[in-house]
Amino acid sequence: TADTASEHTEDGVRRRDFINIAAVSAAGVGGLAVVYPLVSQMAPSADVLAESTTEVDVAGIEPGQSIKAIFRKQPLFVKRLTAAEIADANSVPLSDLREPQTLAERTSEGNEDILITMGVCTHLGCVPLGAAEGENKGEYGGYFCPCHGSHYDTAGRIRKGPAPTNLEVPEYTFTSETTVVVG
Ligand code: FES
Repeated sequence: TADTASEHTEDGVRRRDFINIAAVSAAGVGGLAVVYPLVSQMAPSADVLAESTTEVDVAGIEPGQSIKAIFRKQPLFVKRLTAAEIADANSVPLSDLREPQTLAERTSEGNEDILITMGVCTHLGCVPLGAAEGENKGEYGGYFCPCHGSHYDTAGRIRKGPAPTNLEVPEYTFTSETTVVVG
């Protein structure tokens, strides 16, 4: 019903749209009753997605390297910072920051060299480029969003451009020295 739909997250609504579209095309070949259960099994419910976790092995990530993973259907950046990048992040006065947060606040205690952020620009959701990527024109050594020119520093904090906030740090836990469970 419309009431139920309005309570769903965006994902739920999108799934419903997909089901409607699938049902309409199935009507053309006369297989509506068969198609619906298949579609409903394939698409995880919004609740399941919201609870899902992503495990990342950070052992192979070299200092200065950022890898991409997927967390709840969105890009996730996992970066091992170099000593210079850590020093750079720690040298910035908090008063210079649009959303003041220290590197320590954005990392896990004892693992301050591992920066884990969503790979989603907080302006309009493009995927920013990492410092190691050739087209990165970032001025602050972290990530640069090519869509409208937002610059993030080595701690993933917004420094310049239209994005309002820092790259989001999701909840995560180190379950061993090299394994992180995000979510
Ligand atoms: Fe990144 Fe606009 S979406 S700057």
